[in-house]
Amino acid sequence: MSSIQTAPVDVASLVKRRTPGYSLETPFYTDQAIFDLDMAAIFAKHWLFCATEAEIPDPGDYVVVEIGPHSVIITRDDDEDVRAFRNVCRHRGARLLTDPCGSVGNIVCPYHQWTYRVDGDLIFAEGQPATFDRASFGLRPIHTRTVGGLVFICLDDNPPDDFDEVAAVLEPYLAPFDLAHAKVAHIDDFEEAGNWKLTMENNRECLHCDTGHPELVTAYFPVFNTTLENAHPRMRPVIERYQAANDALARVCSMRDYPLPQDGRRDLEDRATGFRVLHLPLDGAGTSFGVNGQAVCTKLMGSVTEPRFGDLGIHLQPNTWLHFCSDHAVVFRVLPLAPDKCMVRTTWLVAPDAEEGVHYDLDALTQVWRATNSQDGAFVGLTQQGVQDPGYLPGPYSTIEDDVDAFVTWYINRIQRYLESTSYVGV
Ligand code: FES
Ligand code: FE
Repeated sequence: MSSIQTAPVDVASLVKRRTPGYSLETPFYTDQAIFDLDMAAIFAKHWLFCATEAEIPDPGDYVVVEIGPHSVIITRDDDEDVRAFRNVCRHRGARLLTDPCGSVGNIVCPYHQWTYRVDGDLIFAEGQPATFDRASFGLRPIHTRTVGGLVFICLDDNPPDDFDEVAAVLEPYLAPFDLAHAKVAHIDDFEEAGNWKLTMENNRECLHCDTGHPELVTAYFPVFNTTLENAHPRMRPVIERYQAANDALARVCSMRDYPLPQDGRRDLEDRATGFRVLHLPLDGAGTSFGVNGQAVCTKLMGSVTEPRFGDLGIHLQPNTWLHFCSDHAVVFRVLPLAPDKCMVRTTWLVAPDAEEGVHYDLDALTQVWRATNSQDGAFVGLTQQGVQDPGYLPGPYSTIEDDVDAFVTWYINRIQRYLESTSYVGV
């Protein structure tokens, strides 16, 4: 009888020999040790978009986020500040909150009822001696920041220090949508049968969009990687239409009390909090992600007054993409579950006074991105099957997969930095 022995993975060598412009080698998508390294070097070290403020509108509202082995409570305290804590009791370690979301007056441990205020302070612990210092046993806080209604946390004690800079870039783009006071219309959790990096790589390109996302592409101009100069003559009317729509969007952005930035910003590779922001006009009706760019909600978001307000798209390393239209926002985050499994959460938000059945139909609101998620999930599943096949070899990215290369390069750089700064030796 024989048993299969898996050779230990030499992560440092794999990182060093990565060929720029090529997809990663198999172990990055399949190996448990690299999965654990990803949790330590990426997810426990960087700022992560985890929730929206709209999910916790009132003090005591909370969501629980599971990030690998880390369980995190995100809540709003009595001063209405967003806070995050380790979901671990300071007595003997019991899990405190077991529902994925809810509302509490205080956080009460189900085991021996140690009781914490929603600002983390311990206020009740039975049977402790008179010398017991309650102030030393509050919930362990986690670094938390909000930007334009998006809640970010960083599990590390020393978060990347570039977040303020990135937040300052993003805030003016996000301001008109007033996401903090929006209404959560729907949340969808969708498990994909692939490594989290395959989900991110798939998200970072639209090479597959024309054939893979028939519903989604009706809202976009078919002009990827095309200019008036290099366009085939047949494409010129499309390019001209795109340019007219882009000029109109620029006028809308400049006509407000305070002008909105419309120029794109892309800094995906070199900084810890890699990001890209792009405000594009939409095709057809030019309003939203309904079929042919039609609106999906009759109430507009925040201070937006012009229905043809395009698609504000934001990408953040390591796990986020976001879209904002005049009538709704749809935000995505990916969290790893296992080397070959991850969870994509999609949250749709509308204006606070938008009523289902009156101003929007939930099915119509969510239809395009539910279809897109399902199609993307299938692509990720197919890729996972291929990359774990012994016949797989890393392949070259095309010129329009530059953001995939940027994501993978960012990832490799961050892993390399982590390996150099710790005593991690792999297994
Ligand atoms: Fe929480 Fe005992 S473990 S009160
Ligand atoms: Fe896709």
